[in-house]
Amino acid sequence: MKIKIRVPSTTVNLGPGFDVFGAALSLYNQFETEYVPNSKTTKFILQGEGENTLPKGSKNLVWKSMQATFKVLGENRYNLNNLNIKINTSIPLSGGLGSSASAIVGGITLANVLCGDKLNKFQIAELAVKIEGHPDNVVAAVFGGLCICVKDNDDRYETAVSLPVPKLKVVLCVPSFELRTKHARQIVPKKVNLKDVVFNISRAALLTAAFCNKDYSLLKQGMQDKIHQPYRGKIIASMNEILETAVSAGAYGSFLSGSGPTIAAFCNKKDAQNIQKTMIKRWEKNNISVKSYILDFDAKGVLSI
Ligand code: HSE
Repeated sequence: MKIKIRVPSTTVNLGPGFDVFGAALSLYNQFETEYVPNSKTTKFILQGEGENTLPKGSKNLVWKSMQATFKVLGENRYNLNNLNIKINTSIPLSGGLGSSASAIVGGITLANVLCGDKLNKFQIAELAVKIEGHPDNVVAAVFGGLCICVKDNDDRYETAVSLPVPKLKVVLCVPSFELRTKHARQIVPKKVNLKDVVFNISRAALLTAAFCNKDYSLLKQGMQDKIHQPYRGKIIASMNEILETAVSAGAYGSFLSGSGPTIAAFCNKKDAQNIQKTMIKRWEKNNISVKSYILDFDAKGVLSI
């Protein structure tokens, strides 16, 4: 039996909510597996964005996440010789749209379905957070919609709460240079001064109110951040200008998507194309070419297809 699933891309932080806010979006990676007990020609196929760059076999993150799941479930029947695996990626790699989260959630879910669906979504998210390290991308990829992620004092996934899914468009510009999350996390200071913490807490609360009350006029202020964007802006050429450009062109708010370098803007449908054009032009003025998307929120999260 072939198992086929899709996992959404994700945009996270939303400005002040570093490692807390996560939203699932309508751009998907697809993952397939099939158990072939006596096969001598087992296949590992990569298609799409990662076709020529992602590792095949034991070093692949999808496979590593499948293995971690088999271990948790005490299952030792499956290996790279008796499973066909196909990965079709549409989410840009190292861009800030959750491509690694998608691989982790994809791998765990494939393995879980193979083993008879023993893990529920909370347990899938818990394992995914352990592998990824930070919760926002994987939690949104599992549950879909707009999530607030909560970790406990020992850095373990504790819970997630869903906010109403906004009927807004998300404009994303993915510049042609890559930024590794590991590097982008290292440059965020480990200690933050109290004034900046208060600045961010108030904006994160404002964002929550904005989504609950559907008052998107609060997003411009609510998406301001002093904890990570100012530091990442030093290695992402034109970040501040693009953020301002998106809002001047009519977006409710804009922010660095995850650890970047993608920049995201939330807006009304009627304004999306103009905002997209204006943002692209601003990047190109600095000789940076971008891939761009206008997406919806994904309300479902990981799904069998
Ligand atoms: N919250 C994480 C960060 C997301 O900003 O580092 C990384 O994709």
